[in-house]
Amino acid sequence: LSLVVLISGGGSNLRALLEAQADAAYPARILAVGADREADGLAHAEEFGIPTFTVPYGSFASREEWGDELLAQIRVWNPDLVVLSGLMRLLPHRVVAELSPRLINTHPAYLPEFPGAHAVRDAIRAGAEQSGASIIVVADGVDDGPIIVRERVPVLMGDTEHSLHERIKPVERRLLVQTVLDIANGLDLETL
Ligand code: GRF
Repeated sequence: LSLVVLISGGGSNLRALLEAQADAAYPARILAVGADREADGLAHAEEFGIPTFTVPYGSFASREEWGDELLAQIRVWNPDLVVLSGLMRLLPHRVVAELSPRLINTHPAYLPEFPGAHAVRDAIRAGAEQSGASIIVVADGVDDGPIIVRERVPVLMGDTEHSLHERIKPVERRLLVQTVLDIANGLDLETL
């Protein structure tokens, strides 16, 4: 199963996929890693000798034009699956329309709880006793696509956004590596 992974930040989820695919038995290959900015996480791809590309959001007059360039870059690699792994941008409709359902996203909450860009902070502010991690198929709305897998993560007394996010990320990483494996082994994203 060939992948293109898109990030915006530190890429700890990406690193988990890079380490998994370094094992020849893991049936997925990351063809390239893209970002909407000069993301620190691109260094992980470079360390593993994986090509990278950036489509800087600020360089484009509109989200649609940014999306068209992103799509053009992804088409170069023609992956079986596109993985959003901490991409902090909403994709334009035409990008989702072309790629979905072979387009998945990892989210640091137990969807449909706490969608959006501030899921961990929102869970803390809501006084939630538990949150979670989810892997979904990307649809047009905000984190509202079909849920592939999700798992609860406890919120502990005194948790900050950082401490909760650090407890969620290892769960995300495990769910993401497992989900890519399941898709490589035949999980049908069309029928979710
Ligand atoms: C992850 O928790 C992801 O779900 C969220 O942002 C975080 C990215 O972390 N969108 P990293 O860049 O993978 O370390």
